[in-house]
Amino acid sequence: MAVSNKPHATGKVPAGDVTQRVGVEQMTSRGLNIEELREKLIDAAGAEFTTYYYYTILRMHLAGKEDYKEICEDARLEDRSHFELITPRIYELGAGLPRDIREFADRAGCPDAYLPDNPTAVEILTVLLEAERCAIRTWNEICDLTLGKDPRTYNLASRILQEEIEHEAWFIELLSMERDGVSRPSGHFRRGNPGDAPHSKNLPFYVP
Ligand SMILES: [Fe+2]
Ligand SMILES: [Fe+2]
Repeated sequence: MAVSNKPHATGKVPAGDVTQRVGVEQMTSRGLNIEELREKLIDAAGAEFTTYYYYTILRMHLAGKEDYKEICEDARLEDRSHFELITPRIYELGAGLPRDIREFADRAGCPDAYLPDNPTAVEILTVLLEAERCAIRTWNEICDLTLGKDPRTYNLASRILQEEIEHEAWFIELLSMERDGVSRPSGHFRRGNPGDAPHSKNLPFYVP
């Protein structure tokens, strides 16, 4: 067989080797710590999954506040979308979710968004706001780790981050008016459908 003169025809991973991934090796060669990234992604996925669960309870207890319920529902469903978006990437990188959901919940990268003992709207909005802030810190860190080294994870993380930043702005607006009577607009009106996830869904990206 003639030796190929195509520069990308071969590389460090031998032809036919299914125990290694060029998609990982290329990131390693650019200086990315794959082990660290995998662990942080599992922690981040755990935070999205548990937050989705806890937001279910928080939304229930915004009883009588239909506007707050709707916005909490958008943030809740979009966290599920974030979990769905990032989980396949964890497997592509050669890792996976913990077999035991208890382990998964325990290693979540953000605190549990518990229903407050005194579940007033102010108390619940405060929990929601701080959960969004933890998510922003989390996805910013993933963006920092992957910038220029792992375009695929960076793309997913930056799309999630855009929604987390919106979520923070929503809850600042609501808490500021509810607690302090001060107008701090978020620029938000409403999602077209509950939990529309304009950035973190896959379909429009695959079917342009
Ligand atoms: Fe999220
Ligand atoms: Fe969020």
